[in-house]
Amino acid sequence: MKIVNVVGARPNFMKIAPLYGSYKLHDDIEPVLVHTGQHYDEKMSELFFRQLEIPEPDVNLEVGSASHAVQTAEIMKRFEPVLIEHRPDAVLVVGDVNSTISCGLVAVKLGIKLVHIEAGLRSYDRSMPEEINRVLTDSISDLLFCTEQSGVDNLIREGISKDKVFLVGNVMIDALVRNREKAEKSTVLDKLGLDPQGYAALTLHRPSNVDDAAVLSNIIDAIEVIQKHMPVVFPIHPRTRKHLDSTPLGQRIEGMKRILLTEPLSYLDFSKLMSSAKLVLTDSGGIQEETTFLRIPCLTLRENTERPVTVELGTNQVVGVTTERILEAFEDVMNAGNVECETPPLWDGHASERIAKILLDKI
Ligand code: UD1
Repeated sequence: MKIVNVVGARPNFMKIAPLYGSYKLHDDIEPVLVHTGQHYDEKMSELFFRQLEIPEPDVNLEVGSASHAVQTAEIMKRFEPVLIEHRPDAVLVVGDVNSTISCGLVAVKLGIKLVHIEAGLRSYDRSMPEEINRVLTDSISDLLFCTEQSGVDNLIREGISKDKVFLVGNVMIDALVRNREKAEKSTVLDKLGLDPQGYAALTLHRPSNVDDAAVLSNIIDAIEVIQKHMPVVFPIHPRTRKHLDSTPLGQRIEGMKRILLTEPLSYLDFSKLMSSAKLVLTDSGGIQEETTFLRIPCLTLRENTERPVTVELGTNQVVGVTTERILEAFEDVMNAGNVECETPPLWDGHASERIAKILLDKI
């Protein structure tokens, strides 16, 4: 079975790595790796390939950054000849980035089966570019692999046939489990002068938070208070860097004594940073899941989540983006005792093996 696997942006790499590991257990799977080049900085891409031991991509489409329409169209134009050349039995896409929908659309138009990993998640917020990518990709996929029961329920509600949908667990948690020992050895805390459980970690990159100066300013007001209680480590995504640099907010944040601004961190350093933090504040999707698995309190700086299991069973609180609500939730975490949390069903480090078996059976 020849399967073309697509990666494009940073959150894709830790999902494809464990799948590649499980393909190795089956001689009859021939994987081809295509990198669209949506993310291209060393720290957003290559570093992840090295640390996660992902093989060099067979093809790099080198699309780079552009508007949504141009990026999506460019990926499609460059991906089509790759599929015509390789004629795979299936194309596998992960997550919800522009590369996911672009390559999915090319595959189905050529009559090639489409497999979507992390299917069915819904924020029900159509202003998020990722929500559009999720809904569209799921609607054209032939096999849909879900991380949590809500994903299965959403797909069935949308009329997708039950026999295409599989609850298999979470490949991103597979990556976390497989790299736990290596991450433990990371020296990131020493380098930043941090004590375990003595700091907060912050990540921000959603357009709705970082492209809107009023929202970003509210979040930064809250962070200004939090850093008076404990150091706040803030690895800055390129998108966020651009917006901080173009407004007075950048200077303001640089003036705060206990904010540690860093470049985007490597996978292993960030895993270590999360697992030793007192709490994490984020607008990322994946980090809500990783902190749930690691039992680290997570404040999600958004109005919704497409990953409700992290709130129902896990450590996640969706707190929104007003200064008051962020600070209230921060105080609650500081006053709380032990973290009460369950690991969601099937988040056991073996999702990718389940997926490989189902692929061999169904395709
Ligand atoms: C993309 C995904 C988002 C995901 C995020 C993770 C879409 C619609 N969005 O958002 O779902 O959560 O990746 O990081 O697919 N840039 C660089 N270097 C890079 C990549 C980007 O400097 O390697 C800068 C460019 O200025 C670019 C901006 O970041 O314009 C945004 O990049 P883009 O890929 O368009 O979206 P992200 O915000 O990274």
